[in-house]
Amino acid sequence: MAVLEGDPAINLAEVEARALGRLTPLARDYYASGATDEITLRWNREAYARIAVRPRALVDVSARDLSTTILGRRHPWSVIVAPTAFQRLAHPDGEAAVARAAAAAGVTMTLSTLASTSIEDVAAAAPGAPRWFQLYVFRDRALTAALVARAEAAGYEAIVLTVDAPLLGRRERDARNRFALPEGMTAANLADALARVSSDGRDSGLFQFFASQIDPGFTWADLATLCSSTRLPVLVKGVLRADDATRAIEAGARGVIVSNHGGRQLDTAIASIDALPEVVEAVAGRAPVLVDGGIRRGTDILKALALGADAVLLGRPILWGLVDGEAGVRHVLQLLHAEFDLAMALAGCASRAAVTRDLVVWPRG
Ligand code: GLV
Repeated sequence: MAVLEGDPAINLAEVEARALGRLTPLARDYYASGATDEITLRWNREAYARIAVRPRALVDVSARDLSTTILGRRHPWSVIVAPTAFQRLAHPDGEAAVARAAAAAGVTMTLSTLASTSIEDVAAAAPGAPRWFQLYVFRDRALTAALVARAEAAGYEAIVLTVDAPLLGRRERDARNRFALPEGMTAANLADALARVSSDGRDSGLFQFFASQIDPGFTWADLATLCSSTRLPVLVKGVLRADDATRAIEAGARGVIVSNHGGRQLDTAIASIDALPEVVEAVAGRAPVLVDGGIRRGTDILKALALGADAVLLGRPILWGLVDGEAGVRHVLQLLHAEFDLAMALAGCASRAAVTRDLVVWPRG
């Protein structure tokens, strides 16, 4: 079993601070940055601090059941690993280490299209573990269909379609660094001609990759086609409006993920937790609603659930943990699990069902 050496970090902020000091500048900036002024990146965190909890007293919380069911699968608690690209920038074991740590915790992992380990190798790293596949739609639709087919064949249980990135957001740190994958690392799911993400020396190589390869013309009609072309449920990630959530469900999506891509796409886009309530209202129980962006504390999970989320996705903290390999990711999941369990107890909630809307004061309404 992977074991952490030294004095383990006490919370996710400490995990992050330690990781930032150990990554290469290119990796650190790529993972940490948001778009342009990084205002949404900041709002994602600040919005949680503005939500107050109204705890219930004298509830029997001696036994707590944190589990929840999403698309027919029982999850031990309401956390899923978000898709993040090129995890081998954090540690040589990359996505395989994340897969093993998630599997050990019973947490579902979402693998990015832009992973530095292939769909099949990640499946082999944690056989039988629950996992989802995040999809970018390429101009080359045959390539897109092949990615879906490979995810199906390798036992992934859902497709998470990212809809907030027709082009890549402008991350100025990456532009300055002329972001490119280091020698020996590739976008492992793509054929050789695409797999080397390199820069022409004028901008972020990933920005250039998106502009040339990702299809900015993908629309709701295409979503309906995608949903009917796979036996896997499709969750739409990157929804920030009630009307888009409704359209996603009408097109056949089986779930909606409220997300602004960790503040990395449109800067000054609404904090994802602030967009959650209108999406929950629009979806009206027809499908699960998940949220990501800014989850760093157990109380953040509690607040997201109270505002109607079925689960949250955890992105950057997994990367910060990954700097210490599989053990580091396990530690991040353990820290957050313990915090969430404690938050549930202190809020007077013995199960997911007890986490109702009246548990929080949300300043927007
Ligand atoms: C990729 O999805 C990124 O946000 O860099």
